[in-house]
This record gives sequence, structure tokens and C-alpha cells, in this order.
Amino acid sequence: ELRGVVAMDGPSGTGKSTVARRLADALGAAYLDTGAMYRVVTLAVLRAGVDPADASAVLRCAESTDLRIGTDPTRADVRIGDEDVAAEIRLAPVTQAVSAVSAVPRVRELLVARQRQVVSEARGRSGGIVVEGRDIGTVVVPDAELKVYLTASADARAARRSAQDAAAGRSSTVDATKADVERRDRLDSTRAASPLRPAVDAVEVDTTELDIPGVLDRLLGMVRERG
Ligand code: C5P
Repeated sequence: ELRGVVAMDGPSGTGKSTVARRLADALGAAYLDTGAMYRVVTLAVLRAGVDPADASAVLRCAESTDLRIGTDPTRADVRIGDEDVAAEIRLAPVTQAVSAVSAVPRVRELLVARQRQVVSEARGRSGGIVVEGRDIGTVVVPDAELKVYLTASADARAARRSAQDAAAGRSSTVDATKADVERRDRLDSTRAASPLRPAVDAVEVDTTELDIPGVLDRLLGMVRERG
């Protein structure tokens, strides 16, 4: 059983989401997908017709959105009020605009506060929590019991994203996906507010040559070592 927090960071296409969910499920822990939170705000921004580059309008939109997110690793529970938006936040328009929205410092402050609240509630219960994102080990939970930073080659990440899109019925090509993955990583890594980077005390795992069960095995081993 996990006590405390596993922070999982890294760029997209590293298997991070799948592995984080399965790890939480295997440990009987809660799970928080912080990327989904930035995606929900982005969806609200797009629906309101707000320019994602207009920071103050984006912030107002974030403040007025009734974002709800569940922590059960076995089902995606993401809503605006009562509306299920779990599928819509994965579509291209949101993916295209999310890096601009997540670069707004006050939007980050708002969501980081919510994330810390979920973490502190989970810490009060048994079972712990796996938190997934870009800045979990560096900013959101700097005192996490275990920090993992997943990497993989750009080609491997693009291939995985396209396979995921195909499985979910979203059309894409590997070339377009690779360009998109690289663009998003560049934006996420170079932004001023909480850029994507490994925490100094994170364990880096290169998943290029590993499948999901292989990555999961490594992580379960790390949790056991520390437990
Ligand atoms: O993980 P996912 O691909 O759903 O994340 C979507 C976007 O949300 C990322 O590209 C990044 O811009 C932003 N994000 C972030 N900080 C996090 C999680 C996600 O800036 N902790």
C-alpha cells in the first residue's frame, strides 16, 4: 500500500497517463490527472470565444468555470458542472490551445491550489495518491514521497499518440502528431511559469524501449523500495 504521494511528470506520449492510472489502481491509491484540469479550462475558453492569448480574459474564464474532477483511477470523471467533458477535452481544438492557457501564471495558481487541496485530502486517508502532470514534482507537491520523470524519443511519443488517437476514433497522421507533440513540448518547456523539467530528486525513466507493463513493473519496484 502506498502512503503519501507519487509525482509523475514528463512530456506527452511517454505512456505517463496510462501508467499513472494503472499504478494508482494497482496500489489502491487515488489518481489526479492535472492535465485534464488545464484542458477543461481551455475548453471553457474556446466555448466562450475567448482568445487563448488574452491572459486576463482566460483567467476570468478559469475563475467562472465549475470544474469538477474525480480521483478514481478506473474511470475518467471530468465535468463542467454536471456535463461530462471527458471526451471533448481530448479533441484537437483543446490540444491545440492548451499550452497557451496553461502558460498563464494566475491560471496555474488557481489550479495548483485546487490540486494541493485534493492532495492534502488524499494524504489524510489511507492509500495515497498518484498525481500526474508537468510540474508536480517541482511545484505542486515538492515533498512527494516518490518523483518519477518519464521520457521517450520524439518518434516513440508521436507513434504512441497516433495509436491512441486511432484507438479513440480520432483521425491523425504520425507526421502531424509528431509536429504537434514537439510544438507542445517546446511551449511547455520554455514557458516562464513552472516550465516542464525534472525535479532534482526525480527518478528518470526512459520508456522508448519499454511497454506499459515494463514501465509499471519498474515503478511498482520503486514504490516497494521506498515503502
Ligand atoms: O497531460 P496532458 O497532455 O493532458 O496535458 C495537457 C497540457 O496541459 C500540457 O501540454 C501542458 O500545457 C498543460 N499542463 C501543465 N501542467 C500540468 C499538466 C498539464 O501545464 N501539471
